[in-house]
Amino acid sequence: MLSTPDILRRTGGKAVKSIVFDQATIAAKVAELGARITAAYPDGELLVLGLLKGSFIFLSDLVRTIERPIQVDFLVASSYGDGKVSSGTVRLLYDPETRLEGKHILLVEDIIDTGKTLQRLMALLDTRRPESLSICALLDKQLATECRPEVRFVGFRAPAAFLVGYGLDHAENYRHLPFIADLE
Ligand code: IMP
Ligand code: MG
Repeated sequence: MLSTPDILRRTGGKAVKSIVFDQATIAAKVAELGARITAAYPDGELLVLGLLKGSFIFLSDLVRTIERPIQVDFLVASSYGDGKVSSGTVRLLYDPETRLEGKHILLVEDIIDTGKTLQRLMALLDTRRPESLSICALLDKQLATECRPEVRFVGFRAPAAFLVGYGLDHAENYRHLPFIADLE
């Protein structure tokens, strides 16, 4: 556990409202997810696709707990529209160079809010004819929206707060915090 001065040094003096998941809790959950993923894919090629930028820390910890051969690549997606309301389209700013066809694809996301981005990404990736296509999310706010994709591997149910740390940002800040906090 980090002390308050340790936290304030990292945030530049901004106090967090509360620590929602500490380092040890996150590490235990990531190990559990890695074991479940290892068991879920006994055969075939597995490509783990990290959705940037938010998943970068989770992905790097997660892949080291998976005890089978995998490939790792990334996706950068952008939804575009009028800036306020999503247009219902997703565009890939970085498209993985790795072939998807015939492989098990595991899409790794930091947090699912409405699930809209992932729902559209799943439809797009499905056209590449993978053997299977599943989602692993560290956090899920579990909002009941009609477009929610099925999330096969979930770490934590997240409170309806704005969370930062362990990859999650507020205007690119706080991604480096080793815990997940409610910024308020
Ligand atoms: P969705 O398409 O509504 O599910 O939005 C998911 C994306 O919104 C995530 O990949 C995050 O980048 C961002 N997001 C949602 N909730 C939070 C949060 O509490 N903190 C930081 N980013 C969030
Ligand atoms: Mg994100």
